[in-house]
Amino acid sequence: MTQSAIYSRVIGTGSYLPARRVTNQQLADELAARGIETSDEWIVARTGIQARHFAAPDQTSSDMAVEAARRALDMAGLSADQIDLIMVATSTPDFVFPSTACLVQSKLGITNGCAAFDIQAVCSGFAYAMATADNFIRSGAYRNVLVIGAETFSRILDFNDRTTCVLFGDGAGAVVLQASSEPGILSSALHADGSHSNILCVPGNVNAGAVQGEAFLYMDGQAVFKLAVKVLEKVAHEALEKAGLEAEAIDWLIPHQANLRIMTSTARKLDAEAKMVVTVDQHGNTSAASIPLALDVAVRDGRIKAGHNVMIEGVGGGFTWGAVLFRM
Ligand code: ACO
Repeated sequence: MTQSAIYSRVIGTGSYLPARRVTNQQLADELAARGIETSDEWIVARTGIQARHFAAPDQTSSDMAVEAARRALDMAGLSADQIDLIMVATSTPDFVFPSTACLVQSKLGITNGCAAFDIQAVCSGFAYAMATADNFIRSGAYRNVLVIGAETFSRILDFNDRTTCVLFGDGAGAVVLQASSEPGILSSALHADGSHSNILCVPGNVNAGAVQGEAFLYMDGQAVFKLAVKVLEKVAHEALEKAGLEAEAIDWLIPHQANLRIMTSTARKLDAEAKMVVTVDQHGNTSAASIPLALDVAVRDGRIKAGHNVMIEGVGGGFTWGAVLFRM
C-alpha cells in the first residue's frame, strides 16, 4: 500500500502592529531635535517607506508575537492547545534566553508541552522557519505548527545614524501550518554565505554583565543592495524549478519588505510587478516579521484566495536568503 503524501497547508494568518505609528515627517522632526537631518522626500525616494510602527517601551517581541498568533489561531479555528510546535523567527528576542518561542507558549497558556524554539536568520528568518516547519510536518512529526516572525528592531537602531534608523519598524506576523493531503507548501530553497557577515550586523554580545562590542545595527547599504538583488532572483528560480513551475504560475509575490527599490527590481525580473504585495510603505522594514505581516494583509483584504500560488522570499543578515512557494 502506498502512503499518500503529506503537505503543509497555511490554514490561518494573523498580524500585529504596535499602536505608535511614526510618519517620515514625525521621524524627521524627532531627528532634527538631535541635530540629524533627513526628510520625507529622501526616505520615500530611496526606500518607498512612508511610515513605520514602534513598540511601546514595555512591549516586547513575544508580546507582539502572541497577538499575531491569537489572530492566526482564530482564523485557523484551532485552540492554542492544539499546537504541536512553535517557531519564532526573530533577531530581537526578549532575552538572551529563554527563547521567545517559550515565552509565547506560556503567554498563550499552552500547557501541552509542545516543542518551542527560535530561528535566527535575520530578515530571512520567516522563510527559514516556514521551510523548517514544512519538514517537520512532512516527516509526520507534527500536525499543527505555529510559525511566527516578530521583531522590535527599534531597540537596536542608533537614532544618531540617519542611514539606518529611518529604514526599520516593529511588528509581528504569524501563520498556522497544518498537515494535509492537499498542497500546501510546494517547494523551498534556503542559503547562507557567512563570509558577508560584516555588511549587516549587530556586532555585540553580553560579557561580564555588560554589552561587549556594539549593540546597534550596522549596515553597508550599497553592499546589501547589490547582494540582495542578485540572490533574490536566483533563489526564486530555484524554488520554482523544484516545484516544476514557471514564473507565470506565481499569483502573488511577497518579498521581504526591506526597500521598494530592491523589491521592484526582483519582481521585474520575474515579470511579477503587478503581483507583488507591498506593505513596506506603511510598515518599514520589520525584518523577520515583514513577510507574515504582508501575507496577512493580503489574505484579509481578499487579494490572496484559496488555490493561489504564493512565493515568499527573504534576504538578510548572515548573509542569508531563501524562498518558499506555497498554494493557499
Ligand atoms: N536622509 C537624508 N540623507 C541621507 C540619509 C537620510 N536618512 N541617509 C543617507 N543619506 C545621504 C548620505 O549621507 C549620502 O550623502 P552624501 O552623498 O552627501 O555622502 C547620500 O544620502 C547617499 O547615500 P547612500 O548611502 O549612497 O544612499 P543610497 O542611494 O545607497 O541609499 C539605502 C541608501 C537606502 C540604505 C540603500 O543603500 C539601500 O536601499 N540599501 C539596501 C539596504 C536595505 O534596504 N537594507 C534593509 C535592511 S537589509 C535587509 O532587510 C535585507
